[in-house]
Amino acid sequence: MAIQWFPGHMHLTKKAIAERIKEIDVVIELLDARLPGSSANPMLAGLTGAKPALKVLNKQDLADPARTALWLAHYNSQPGTRAIGLDASMSTPAKALIEACHALAPTRGSMVKPMRVLICGIPNVGKSTLINTLTGKRATKTGDEAGVTKVEQRLVLADGFYLWDTPGMLWPRIIVAKSGYNLAASGAIGRNAFEEEEVALELLDYLIRHYPAMLEARYKVEITPQTTDELLLEEIGRKRGAVLSKGRINLQKAAEIVIYEFRAATLGRITLETPEEFDMALVAGQLLDAERQVKKDKIETDRLIRQKKLPRPVKFGSR
Ligand code: G4P
Repeated sequence: MAIQWFPGHMHLTKKAIAERIKEIDVVIELLDARLPGSSANPMLAGLTGAKPALKVLNKQDLADPARTALWLAHYNSQPGTRAIGLDASMSTPAKALIEACHALAPTRGSMVKPMRVLICGIPNVGKSTLINTLTGKRATKTGDEAGVTKVEQRLVLADGFYLWDTPGMLWPRIIVAKSGYNLAASGAIGRNAFEEEEVALELLDYLIRHYPAMLEARYKVEITPQTTDELLLEEIGRKRGAVLSKGRINLQKAAEIVIYEFRAATLGRITLETPEEFDMALVAGQLLDAERQVKKDKIETDRLIRQKKLPRPVKFGSR
């Protein structure tokens, strides 16, 4: 799926992080607990280097608790990294954040040596909502369209504890196709950038295999080995009255229902990837990406040879 989206303020974010990072002790990356791997920003590691990292699995109220535990263990086993789960219903998230940052940078946090923390996250991951809770006011806007937060701000979370907020960001290229679908399903990508039907089918395909009981309970359907994503989408449309003239199913409407009910967790608490699944998809995606790059390089080299800007390669062994 081609995601037709590259917000202009992405460059601004990159620049802002690069400038700020020198004086930062801990980098907090907000992730969506329903898709932690896909909602991570692949660019971030390159920008933040070896800084201690706190992964916050946000919106944990919407995610599968057993899978959140898997992801927390996965991140907590990585050097210089800690992970915690959060959600908007927690009235004092600051305590959990401050404790985790102190564990990562134990020498910081006094008035002389304040703890300087940078918080980043892709759009719609819940950063504005969290910051509103931390500051106890509606200081920043929240909204269901990606990319609302646009300016840097500094917050004082406690004595000697400063938090810098970066503008919302997305990565330049989604190399794992499944990540694109998961991000679209979660609401992280503007709705004009994807086809709802395509996203709903991909979502249903995953849910049939991993959360069949939730589908059966919500849509009063029976999931059998013969159930396919297409058949199920049609059945959901029929059951929900998304029917056009001559009994044809309104697949667009059915897709919107499925996506909405996933996002609102009306279907149940669902996580779209395990650490193992994500790692496998990433390796496959990186391989494809490398192959694409080799092809692109070859086309460019051939062009330069044709234009005589590069010498023709010598074939060894030919007379
Ligand atoms: P952003 O700054 O990272 O772009 O995200 P923002 O805080 O605007 O949050 C995006 C949406 O996610 C908002 O929903 C917000 O309420 C919701 N949200 C944030 N944190 C959580 C959480 O922990 N759990 C759940 N379930 N939802 C969360 P919205 O559709 O705009 O609705 P509204 O709440 O603003 O009316």
